[in-house]
Amino acid sequence: MSDDYLATGFPSVDASTCTGVYTQCLDLLDSLPYFKTYKARSDALLDPRAGQTILEVGCGLGEDARRLADLIAPHGRVIGIDRSRRLLAEAQARTSPTTGPAFLQADARALPFAQACVDRCRIDRALQHIAQPQRVIHEMARVLRPGGRLLAYDNDWGTFALSSSLCEATDILQTRWSRAFTNPWIGRDLPRYLLDAGFHDVLVEPSVSLFRDFALADRVYNLSETLARAVRDGAVSPATAEAWRAEQTLLSRTGGFLCSLTAYTVVGTR
Ligand SMILES: C[S@@+](CC[C@H](N)C(=O)[O-])C[C@H]1O[C@@H](n2cnc3c(N)ncnc32)[C@H](O)[C@@H]1O
Repeated sequence: MSDDYLATGFPSVDASTCTGVYTQCLDLLDSLPYFKTYKARSDALLDPRAGQTILEVGCGLGEDARRLADLIAPHGRVIGIDRSRRLLAEAQARTSPTTGPAFLQADARALPFAQACVDRCRIDRALQHIAQPQRVIHEMARVLRPGGRLLAYDNDWGTFALSSSLCEATDILQTRWSRAFTNPWIGRDLPRYLLDAGFHDVLVEPSVSLFRDFALADRVYNLSETLARAVRDGAVSPATAEAWRAEQTLLSRTGGFLCSLTAYTVVGTR
């Protein structure tokens, strides 16, 4: 069994023997048109301005922090924080030391900043992995200046859907993968969490990612690995797993493969 399961590995990337699994996943996602589109929309909603201080929480490889730094260059400051020293080292290696963002190792539940010191705060697919997500949102509220803006984007794994004639096996696969996340429903919970933390003018935008290729969806959502785990646990028979994979491969070849997920972009003003 691989211990580098994407649904459970992101809370502690540095404990992995193979960080490449996580860097390759993040690079693959960043290359996909859906990701480019929602991140461009997120830049517009965040509305970064020259001279501002922007905090990117759970920054991973720093792609979003670098893009934000470019948007407010030459004036302004972007800081990316992440729990993983290894991802931060890679982020740093990809970043200009003069014009790029600064990176800092920290836990999102205890941000190492004074209150009311940043103008914009952004968190993208990190809350799905962090126990006590409300604590993170309260921390982001604490460090934002009055009138500052928080943008959070995250998945609602309760909407994860695959098309198949093998409904029972599909249901098991969808449920097991979704429930493996620390906070599988975080996307739909974001609006009330922001309101609880004192944000106002809370805006909510859903977006749906759609995969039509089994091999690509398998890399992003660990479909085969999830099914293999279900077989090992006796929840799905080896024959059914084989039939499921054969069906998905055929559907992918003939244009019938469908795998979708709804995520939410939620913006609030401090
Ligand atoms: C799915 S990745 C998303 C990375 C980046 N936001 C992006 O859009 O590519 C989740 C990130 O959250 C980080 N993370 C997980 N738990 C964290 C915590 N408690 N505090 C800070 N970062 C954390 C992981 O190290 C990882 O970089």
